[in-house]
Amino acid sequence: MKNKIKTISIVGCGKMGTTIMSSVSRANTAKGLKFNGIEKSDARRGELGKGFKVYADIAGAGASDAYIIAVKPQDIESALGEIGSAVSESARRTLIISIAAGISTEYILGIMRKYAQDIPVIRVMPNTPALVGMGMTVMAAGEGAADEDIRVARVIFGSMGEVVEMDETLMDVVTAISGSGPAYFFYLAEIMEKFAVSGGIDPGLAKKLVSQTIAGSGEMMKKTSRSFRELREDVTSPGGTTEAAVRYLHDLEFPNTFFNALEKARARSEELLRQKKESGKEEQE
Ligand SMILES: NC(=O)c1ccc[n+]([C@@H]2O[C@H](COP(=O)([O-])OP(=O)(O)OC[C@H]3O[C@@H](n4cnc5c(N)ncnc54)[C@H](OP(=O)(O)O)[C@@H]3O)[C@@H](O)[C@H]2O)c1
Repeated sequence: MKNKIKTISIVGCGKMGTTIMSSVSRANTAKGLKFNGIEKSDARRGELGKGFKVYADIAGAGASDAYIIAVKPQDIESALGEIGSAVSESARRTLIISIAAGISTEYILGIMRKYAQDIPVIRVMPNTPALVGMGMTVMAAGEGAADEDIRVARVIFGSMGEVVEMDETLMDVVTAISGSGPAYFFYLAEIMEKFAVSGGIDPGLAKKLVSQTIAGSGEMMKKTSRSFRELREDVTSPGGTTEAAVRYLHDLEFPNTFFNALEKARARSEELLRQKKESGKEEQE
């Protein structure tokens, strides 16, 4: 039997959990939904703002219509176990939304079906620019997720930026691109900032130069119909300064190296699930 989703618990109020919290509290679209947090770390609970009720465990918060799992992949079994107990006690249909990297809806269902049969699961990969409302979230609906479940997930993650739906088979690639992606740009930014400062630019101005250059390039990529390659070529005059840098990177096989780095992230996302399944088997033996 379907019940309307009204109460939502965010399990794990670390970096992503608190980003979701602050985004939904700002968004008008999420006004009809009531959120609370579950955070097991006493220190972390103490640091959180007063805008939300945050409980030490799921039992303390009482049953919810939906749970957003925002704990590290290694903590997911214990979080699901606690949710499972709450779900079997409340006997109501409960939506699970997981943002844990690498963890499939099938894996979550395998655990949750010990507690209840009608458990819709949605896997979601957000990213940290959500903190400033510029997030890119990809959602994949698992077996049993109804249109209303997907609508609610869209409302929640839509409060943090853009949301697209994809097939779950693509989630490891998505993790390597938009999930981990902000870190690649921050990495590049660190190097550019270091160079600017070493060249005599004041650190505050160096930060401004780098961040505005990256933000402006991002806006151009979004707003013009030109390809990324054309945009790059527009800045790269033959024999000019940009060409000197790009040629050096090319000669060092930067495109291949970076492509292979993305493959490492995708493989690590796959490996997280494989390790989970293997450790689960070992525990059963
Ligand atoms: N950070 C990103 O850019 C990003 C992007 C996309 C997806 N994700 C995914 O988001 C998830 C969370 O990442 P994060 O960076 O936000 O992690 P985090 O900062 O470590 O936050 C997780 C929090 O959950 C708490 N916790 C663990 N088990 C719990 C339980 N059973 N009940 C309540 N609280 C519990 C942890 O407490 P303790 O520290 O005491 O264990 C910690 O405070 C991960 O699965 C990650 O794959 C992260």
